[in-house]
Amino acid sequence: MEVHEMTRILLNGCNGKMGQVISRLALGFDGVEVVSGVDINDSIVNPYLVSKSIVATPEFDVIIDFSNPTSFEPLMKYCSETSTPIVLATTGLSDEQKASMQEYSKKVPLFFSANMSLGINLLIDLAQKATRLLEGNFDIEIIEKHHNQKIDAPSGTAIAIADGINAELSEKYNYVYDRSQKREKRTSNEIGIHAIRGGTIVGEHTVLFAGQDEVIELKHTANSKEVFAVGALKAAAFMNGKSPGLYNMKDLIDSM
Ligand SMILES: NC(=O)c1ccc[n+]([C@@H]2O[C@H](COP(=O)([O-])OP(=O)(O)OC[C@H]3O[C@@H](n4cnc5c(N)ncnc54)[C@H](O)[C@@H]3O)[C@@H](O)[C@H]2O)c1
Repeated sequence: MEVHEMTRILLNGCNGKMGQVISRLALGFDGVEVVSGVDINDSIVNPYLVSKSIVATPEFDVIIDFSNPTSFEPLMKYCSETSTPIVLATTGLSDEQKASMQEYSKKVPLFFSANMSLGINLLIDLAQKATRLLEGNFDIEIIEKHHNQKIDAPSGTAIAIADGINAELSEKYNYVYDRSQKREKRTSNEIGIHAIRGGTIVGEHTVLFAGQDEVIELKHTANSKEVFAVGALKAAAFMNGKSPGLYNMKDLIDSM
């Protein structure tokens, strides 16, 4: 297959908050171009063609998806049939949808990250390092804060951090989201995950390690949605021409 130097992008969810940030940022971004968009809401005028479902013209190289979990199956069907690379950034996917990615990635070059910022991926790295050193002696809690328009809770990123920590533990910890229903102490083999919603907070994630008389906190704050847009555009350029497989932020960072 011919690989275009300029990565031509179809943006799924182009009229949403993230879609619009990406559209604006792509205009001054080297090596990428949004050539068309898909959105079920067509009330916004864009400098490219917008349809309600994927159309093959104009030609594009990679799909970026910031929409809603209902897009997942139609996108996977299209990408499987056409071997189109996709950068999946939508969060709130069901466990079944997440599990099916492995199968789809046999046919689809599939990049998935619940958080496209480069900094949050460093946070996961640091949390994994801390886990290796502190396992057994410190209780682990994750606190995330987002704006009052966010639909899913806890954030996909909080789960990704917890999964990253769990991957380092000799025995997997349970995730506990709500302590209001039981009157009992926390166990040592759990990760408490807490979601706070309010105002316009773009995204904050804290990993707290609480031990005997000392607490360590690792925290990442996103100050604008642009950090996710930059990561998504870099991921799209990275995925142009890739073979089927499951890719993530680590692959992108390692390639830079
Ligand atoms: N991975 C990341 O780094 C990251 C960062 C920010 C947001 N997100 C996620 O991206 C998604 C979108 O976020 P947002 O803030 O832009 O939300 P939003 O609600 O502002 O935008 C979503 C857009 O998708 C459209 N849409 C919904 N269903 C669709 C479908 N079936 N087909 C086509 N378009 C459809 C909506 O009309 C809307 O324009 C959310 O899941 C959010 O959590 C991920």
